[in-house]
Amino acid sequence: MSNLKLGILASGRGSNFQSIIDAISSMRLKAEIAVLITDNPLAFAVERAKKHGIEYLVIRPKEFASKDDFFIKIAEELKKRDVGLVVLAGFMRIVGKPLIDAFPNMIMNIHPALLPSFPGLHGQKQAIEYGVKISGCTVHFVEEGIDTGPVIIQAAVPVFQDDTEETLSERILKLEHSIYPEAIRLFSEGRIEIEGKRVRIKEYVSSDISIVNPPIPKSLNPYIA
Ligand code: GAR
Repeated sequence: MSNLKLGILASGRGSNFQSIIDAISSMRLKAEIAVLITDNPLAFAVERAKKHGIEYLVIRPKEFASKDDFFIKIAEELKKRDVGLVVLAGFMRIVGKPLIDAFPNMIMNIHPALLPSFPGLHGQKQAIEYGVKISGCTVHFVEEGIDTGPVIIQAAVPVFQDDTEETLSERILKLEHSIYPEAIRLFSEGRIEIEGKRVRIKEYVSSDISIVNPPIPKSLNPYIA
């Protein structure tokens, strides 16, 4: 069977993009990055694509008559390359309906908070200002609402009382780099099922997620006999 083709959409630094590149190179993830699409020509993600010989396209919304046209163009470029999963990796735009319709349940996003808490921008800052003691990150499917789609994997970190947005972001980012490739792996293995809002992982074994969330004590873990 041929590898799942990924289309990555990123607007900035691209460290999550890098974590996917690394997971593929180290064979933890069997997939192929078909293209990086960015809306920002200055995105560091572009440098990463160049370094790794990955095709990239800069597609800027201002070149289109409408937001829909911008997303139609992105969908066309992804389809042309036979992309089977669209991966938003720090793509700082609300995805338009034409792209969602072109890839139903085939677009993933990573968000730096435990959704449904703190959706939208600056999830880490929102968590600090709210005063929660635990935050984390979420990989979810993208639907029309903002950060509302079915949750695939979450991982939690403590929020310390002296945390700043920067220190919490750094702690969360480390986990982002584990859970994103893991979610893509489960998808590439055809093991993700969606029932309403709930995602089920077929043939679940505890090691699937144990790299991102520390093991639960045996007595509390239904997956350990
Ligand atoms: C990541 O923290 C990601 O969770 C966040 O942007 C950062 C991108 O970093 N995404 C969002 O806030 C989406 N709402 P990266 O460019 O280094 O991957």
